[in-house]
Amino acid sequence: MSGKKLVAGNWKMNGTGADLPEVEAIARAAAAHSSVESALCLPATLLDRAVRAAPGLAIGGQDVHGAPSGAHTGCISAAMLVDCGARLTLAGHSERREAQHESDADVRAKAEAAIAAGLVVIVCVGESASARDAGHAVATVTAQLDASLPRSDGAAGLLAVAYEPIWAIGTGKVPSVGDIGAMHAALRQRLVAAYGEAGETVRILYGGSVKPSNAVEIFAVAEVDGALVGGASLTAADFVPIIAAAVSGAG
Ligand code: PGA
Repeated sequence: MSGKKLVAGNWKMNGTGADLPEVEAIARAAAAHSSVESALCLPATLLDRAVRAAPGLAIGGQDVHGAPSGAHTGCISAAMLVDCGARLTLAGHSERREAQHESDADVRAKAEAAIAAGLVVIVCVGESASARDAGHAVATVTAQLDASLPRSDGAAGLLAVAYEPIWAIGTGKVPSVGDIGAMHAALRQRLVAAYGEAGETVRILYGGSVKPSNAVEIFAVAEVDGALVGGASLTAADFVPIIAAAVSGAG
């Protein structure tokens, strides 16, 4: 990794205008911890208001369509995210891969659309509990990554990857630091295989039950270049200590 750690919040289907003060408080703390890059991926309905309320904070979407425009009811294009002032987006979160049946090919198209619009894209990958129990976690996740990575020219410059074991999301369960390190090392190899030297610079985030209480330990793992945080990103009280924990590991 080169550059700053990236700590991104994912509010999922949470948040209305009443929560903008939390966005503002997180933005103030992010500005005070500028050795870390902080971001919030918000519901589409909040993007424009959050960008206005917190112009210094990187605000992102949680999904993007692979097509530039057209008959896709309920979907959001990369140009629409840019139009709201978003600087990044998630692609391929496991909740969307499962509930919306998004394939690796869909995720690749989303990532390529985001990059074409100049957005940073966080491509999410992660194994199920059964794959982990069967000893297939690394094989499953590296195959998912290979098939989801954008192939656009210069893709590595706008890419981050989030390793989020499905069984760790919202459960309070976290892999051992050894298992996180082994997975991130395997993902780094695949990124270098895909992008050459540029693959060394792609940030690999860990996600799944990151809390103020475990963030320091997780950020200390080699090849953990940041975090994608769900539940603990909803309030400044929980999210700011996680940003602060990344400062000590800032490189
Ligand atoms: P969690 O969610 O931090 O609530 O486990 C992480 C995610 O799904 O991005």
